Amino acid sequence: MPHTEPTCPDLPTPVMAIESSCDDTACAIVSTDGRILAEATLSQSGHVPFGGVVPEIAARAHLGALPALVRDTLRTAGMQPHDLGAIAASCGPGLIGGLIVGADMGKGMAIALDRPFIAVNHIEAHALTARLPGVAANGAPFPYLLLLVSGGHCQCIAVEGVGHYRRLGGTIDDAAGEAFDKVAKMLGLGWPGGPAVERLACEGDPHAVPLPRPLMGRPGCDFSFSGLKTAVAQKLPAEVRTALPRQQAADIAASFQQAVSDIVIDRLGHALEMMERPTTLVVAGGVAANGVLRTRLHEFATAHDLPFAAPPLRLCTDNAVMVAWAAIETMRARAALGLPVPNDIAMRPRPRWPLSDMAQRMTADTDGAAA
Ligand code: KG4
Ligand code: ZN
Repeated sequence: MPHTEPTCPDLPTPVMAIESSCDDTACAIVSTDGRILAEATLSQSGHVPFGGVVPEIAARAHLGALPALVRDTLRTAGMQPHDLGAIAASCGPGLIGGLIVGADMGKGMAIALDRPFIAVNHIEAHALTARLPGVAANGAPFPYLLLLVSGGHCQCIAVEGVGHYRRLGGTIDDAAGEAFDKVAKMLGLGWPGGPAVERLACEGDPHAVPLPRPLMGRPGCDFSFSGLKTAVAQKLPAEVRTALPRQQAADIAASFQQAVSDIVIDRLGHALEMMERPTTLVVAGGVAANGVLRTRLHEFATAHDLPFAAPPLRLCTDNAVMVAWAAIETMRARAALGLPVPNDIAMRPRPRWPLSDMAQRMTADTDGAAA
């Protein structure tokens, strides 16, 4: 039985949240004690023929899917709109068209229902997922080390408190998931590429193909995957790609996956030295679905005597539960400081929204402080 957080009697509950920052359309209802009352995520398929997310297709698909998704989520929770206490939506960073669709839907509901609207930073939502009751065995107390590895992000973050995030390092070129997707494309595996590369890698030898490990051993914990991707491309002249024997393709996939894992583990070792006594190692983002990487992360955490928290896959990839939970954590942290529930109705979605801006939310008493 997962533990729940104590109820804060003054906070509006439950929170309905919308996620539409990339290619997943999601809606969830979560109570302030952390119970998930309903959740639904739709992964868009319109991008498949293009081998990557097409922003315009994503925005239109969010627009088409959201009204029914919101209705279904309410029905699953057995609720009417007026049962909701607050509405939250991812307002950045992300693809601006999708963010506008989700934020406007949320704002419209908030206005119609006369409820607060809470703008959520999508990265902050990933960062706080581990604290959702029942996810981490120890509840992931602050400070903890977060590895965020998705299609758009690859960062090590010291999560020191709600609103207090220190970026220790990040990719200087491609995100980890982006590298998986590009290698999958070179191997003719389709999109999204990560799961396909992982499946093929199971049949291959991770030491068969020598590949570089960019930045490995260097100070700091920045990442670089572009040289690795180019090295894979060089092993695969365009004319042989389609005719590659399966074993050779599998060896490349396995060697690439091994190189990514080696890089991540090396960088994390450095990230750990840049933090004082983290309580937990937390991983989030779609690439955290990778079994080899997960095993390596677990071993790394054990070797450093750190509890390891990997949210279930549906909460690692983009989802609306994490958005609701970030809104709840923000309300709680503000309440502890004597600040009211934020009302961000005037805030415009932002394609870029650095985590360093979030501290302001814990000091300012202004509606739409993040605008
Ligand atoms: O977090 P996410 O669902 O969406 C965002 O990018 O925000 O992550 C998607 C990324 C894609 O690049 C996908 O190829 C990668 O996560 N991914 C994986 C695996 N499953 C998904 N990468 C490696 N191994 C996997 N099993
Ligand atoms: Zn994400």
